[in-house]
This record gives sequence, structure tokens and C-alpha cells, in this order.
Amino acid sequence: MRVLSGIQPTGNLHLGNYLGAIRNWVRMQDEMDSESQCFFFLADMHSITVHEGREARIRNVRDMAAALVAAGIDPDRSVLFNQARVPAHAELCWLLNGTARIGWLNRMTQFKDKVGKDREGASIGLFVYPVLQAADILLYNATHVPVGEDQKQHLELARDIATKFNTDFGIDLFTMPAPIIPKESARIMSLRDGSAKMSKSDPSDMSRINLTDDDDAIMQKVKKAKTDPEPLPEMAEGLAGRPEANNLVGIFATLTGRTPDAVCADFAGKGFGAFKPALGEVLVETLRPIRERFLELRTDDAALDAILDKGAMRAAAAAEPTLRAAYDAMGLMR
Ligand code: TYM
Repeated sequence: MRVLSGIQPTGNLHLGNYLGAIRNWVRMQDEMDSESQCFFFLADMHSITVHEGREARIRNVRDMAAALVAAGIDPDRSVLFNQARVPAHAELCWLLNGTARIGWLNRMTQFKDKVGKDREGASIGLFVYPVLQAADILLYNATHVPVGEDQKQHLELARDIATKFNTDFGIDLFTMPAPIIPKESARIMSLRDGSAKMSKSDPSDMSRINLTDDDDAIMQKVKKAKTDPEPLPEMAEGLAGRPEANNLVGIFATLTGRTPDAVCADFAGKGFGAFKPALGEVLVETLRPIRERFLELRTDDAALDAILDKGAMRAAAAAEPTLRAAYDAMGLMR
């Protein structure tokens, strides 16, 4: 088993990232046997599609590394690195640009969502973003890719690219990666709008719970979260058509390891005035130890750089054979 996943080091790690992806990364790492390997990386080459100054980018990469370690990624057991330090990602991306079709990329919903109406003004990087993501995955022959729901289409594209490359060059080079998407927390929604996913790029900080939020901020955000005036239903099916209520119950269920039905049964007939403080408490208790560890780790840049240096060396060594084989299959090596 080869587990691989990435996160863009832009802004803070938020609850959506944690419950949708990172918690699963840690579980898979902790359940790994001696035959398996985990690769987790900061997608800083992807993040150039968002403009940022030099200093901010350097800080953000170190902060996200600290956040992942604080959340439970162990850089001795897992290979933790930033993409820019392993040039094989950019190289394989270029080779795969010969395989990926414009029509495939035109169908990517994330691209459409991100560019909105200004398609002509979007960067080429944003358009080919999913090809770099395919390279990230195929380079390591990843078999399992733990991600949130929003990455599913990119995973399907990676499989299409792998299949076409293997067929075009008559070689069984790339392994088919399978997305690992959690059942309950695949899509954590904004606290302000139950129809939008919780995201780093939402201009309202009240829409998300950040790993860096202190206990008071978490309680405040939960208290102010949008809900409806109805009480909680007896069963989760009573949450249909109530996206905000559904989201909060889903978060509570995920954090406590229970089903949404069990949570509803506990709070049935009570209003959100009673439910929110309980949810806030669970969030505070879950996030506090991660935040405290994060704040400690981010004070030691040298230690974070050492982790990323070592990770980049291990990743580059693992990526090299696949990259060479791809060049060779294409007749680019003599
Ligand atoms: P990114 O940085 O947007 O998000 C990192 C991970 O968090 C998940 N996620 C969520 N899950 C549930 N609810 C939410 N509201 C939510 N918001 C984010 C994402 O699904 C993701 O798993 N393109 C990727 C990074 C990437 C990558 C890769 C991932 C680059 N190369 C190769 C896997 C394999 C991204 O922008 O994730």
C-alpha cells in the first residue's frame, strides 16, 4: 500500500481540511504495516496559482508543516515534504501535458468555480493544476489517496491520464490510485452558508474554524454559526433541506465518533441554543492539543526545515525510478 496526499500551504489549516483529510492521513499512517509507505506533502507548486509574496510563502510552508506534525503526522514514519523541493513533480507534469486533453481539463469543476466569469484572465497554471496533481500521485505509484469530496474529480482525471499514458506507450507504468473519502466528513460546509464548503479562501473568517483559533474564538464562531429556528429532529433524516443544521450535526458526529442518528436522538426536540455549546466544547477539546503543539513547533524554523529537507530527499529517491521510466517510455532517454 502506498498512501499519498497533499495540501496547499495557503492560509490556515481549517476544520474542513482536518476532518475531510488530515485526520484520515494520521489514521492511515498509524495503521501502516511494514510493507506500506505514506507520503504527505505541501503543494506549494500548486499554490503559485494564488498570488503571494516571497516571505508569506516561506512562512506558510513552514506553518503548514508544523500544522501537519501537530495534527499527528510523524515525519519519521511518513515522508513529509514540500513539492517545490522535488523537481520530479514539475518534470512529470510536463510529460503528462502531452497526454492530458484540453476537453478533460475543461470539465474540471474546481477550475470553473475558481475562475468564475473571468476565464480569459485565469492563469494557465490554474488550468493545468490537475495535471500537476496527477503527476504528484502517479510519480509515487500511490494506491490510496485520502482526500475530501472536492478532490474526487481530480483523482478520476489522474486515473484517465494514467490509463491513456500506459496505453499510448504500451507500458504498464502507472498504478491506478483510489480515492479514500470519509463517509461523514467528506464535505464540511461553511458556518455562514450551508451550501458553500468551508474553505481557506472564504473572505469571512467566521465561516471557518481554524487550527489557530483559541478556545474563545471557537466558541464564538459556533455560537454565531447560521442555523434555523427548528429544534433538532429525532432522526438524521429530519435534517433534509436544513443544510446548516445538517452540517453542525455532522461535525458533532464526526468528532465524537457517533452516527448523526445517535446525535439527533440525544438532542431531539432541543433547539440549537442547547446544541451549540455542546458542539463548541467538543471542538475546543479536539483542537486545543493540536493548536498548542502547533504554536510550539512553529517557533523552531530550523527544526521544521530539517524535517522538510529530509522528507524531500526521501521523496526524490522514491520518485526517481518512475520519472526515469516515463522519460524512457517516451523515447526521451538514450
Ligand atoms: P486543499 O489544500 O484545498 O485541501 C486539502 C485537503 O482538505 C480537503 N478539504 C475538505 N474536506 C472536507 N470539507 C471541506 N470543506 C474541505 N476543504 C478541503 C481537500 O479535499 C483535501 O483533501 N488539490 C489539492 C492538493 C493536492 C493533492 C495532490 C491532493 C495537490 N496534489 C495530490 C491529493 C493528491 C488541494 O488543493 O487541497
